[in-house]
Amino acid sequence: MRFIHMTDLHITAKDQPLYGLSPHIRLHAAIDCINRDFDDVAFVAMTGDLANRGEAAEYEALQEILGKLDMPHYLLIGNHDRRAAFRQVFADVPVDDNGFVQYAFTVEDNHFIVMDTLDEGKVTGLLCEQRLDWLAGELKNHTGDGSYLFLHHPPLRISGGKTLASMVQGRVKHVFFGHVHRPLHGSWMGIPISSQHSTVHQFVYKFGDPVTQGVHEPPTFAAVNMVAGNVMIIPHAYLDNSPRFVMRDKEAARAASPEELPPLP
Ligand SMILES: [Fe+2]
Repeated sequence: MRFIHMTDLHITAKDQPLYGLSPHIRLHAAIDCINRDFDDVAFVAMTGDLANRGEAAEYEALQEILGKLDMPHYLLIGNHDRRAAFRQVFADVPVDDNGFVQYAFTVEDNHFIVMDTLDEGKVTGLLCEQRLDWLAGELKNHTGDGSYLFLHHPPLRISGGKTLASMVQGRVKHVFFGHVHRPLHGSWMGIPISSQHSTVHQFVYKFGDPVTQGVHEPPTFAAVNMVAGNVMIIPHAYLDNSPRFVMRDKEAARAASPEELPPLP
């Protein structure tokens, strides 16, 4: 089973530019690439910061663009989102009994849990008692062989993260998240975690640097391949236009410049 992990779309209203880029053009390009080159994926998961200011007009724009995607998609919200406006437009996305955008779904025996870490008005994430109680019920109901978790905030930076860890250790096999606008692969409390670039602007990461710089580093989404309980995460730079060549082509191997590469057969 394959799916796509995409994050931090930051869609604006009326295609307003953002840091010199068009979030709309970026998302269209990602969707075109998925429809063309990843047409066998079961779904596309988008891990928050769907809109840039959390306005209804932005979610309406997002909804229209997502209409072009050939496969199902699953949405969750991040710190740039606003719950009420999101729910107004995406009324069909499930919420829990307290109105948090949290739900679970199963694809080919793989159990996916989507959680809402939005703490309205704050950049940092929160998993309150209500949201963790919902998770406890979800984990209790699922008796299968482990689950996969989607969050917006990195789990190590969420208020309530320690409780989350104690609940999901041994139960969740991988955590997919966004927020950091760059690929981050590692582990948290022994659980594998990963994030991807934003579809728009990226953050420069320097150890100890207090100022967050943005950068137009090329975006990626991840093609996630799940086979027999193993999880492979392959970042794909969907705007990359560099020449392609056949690896075993001897003429290609000898090429002294990109211009000398023979065209693909
Ligand atoms: Fe973001």
